[in-house]
Amino acid sequence: MEIKCIDSDKAPLDLLLLADPSRDSIASYLHDSVVFLVTIESKPVGVSAVVIKGKVAEIKNIAVATEYQHRGIGKKLMEHIKLFARKSQLDAIKVGTGNSSLQQLSFYQKSGFRIKGVITDYFASYRPEIYENGIRCIDMILLEHKVISA
Ligand code: COA
Repeated sequence: MEIKCIDSDKAPLDLLLLADPSRDSIASYLHDSVVFLVTIESKPVGVSAVVIKGKVAEIKNIAVATEYQHRGIGKKLMEHIKLFARKSQLDAIKVGTGNSSLQQLSFYQKSGFRIKGVITDYFASYRPEIYENGIRCIDMILLEHKVISA
């Protein structure tokens, strides 16, 4: 397995769409992002797009190909992002996810993120309404990982 930083133009859209189904949304942040690609024997199996603002990195997208999930690849990719943030002397890594995204909430908290806030009704106007795990996605949960300097 290899993790490297790639040109945003070369980011695999099929993987980005797993985490963010809106092409317009992806287009709004991709070219301002640092993009990390995970490959296994040259095959792209994971991706993350991270936007740096000041001393904070915001994970805009992180995804592992469906057939490669639950094998520790997401965790390794997150460790790589944390190392990047430490080397770049950033203060924190932030991410936002839906209240109904139980898998992602588990993944981020197991990766050391803490809940820092909620934007209520963030998804309230989305049509069609989004349901996951039988729960309406309506609020945005904000999570943060503080970067510990070396
Ligand atoms: N339910 C509960 N916990 C889960 C989980 C699930 N479905 N998927 C992963 N986790 C936990 C694992 O149990 C593991 O914990 P452990 O270290 O105690 O064993 C930890 O998260 C890391 O798991 P890992 O195998 O590295 O995760 P992954 O490679 O499957 O990647 C995602 C996790 C979220 C990136 C991946 O599932 C994915 O791409 N999902 C679709 C896209 C998405 O929703 N992205 C996030 C929104 S931007």
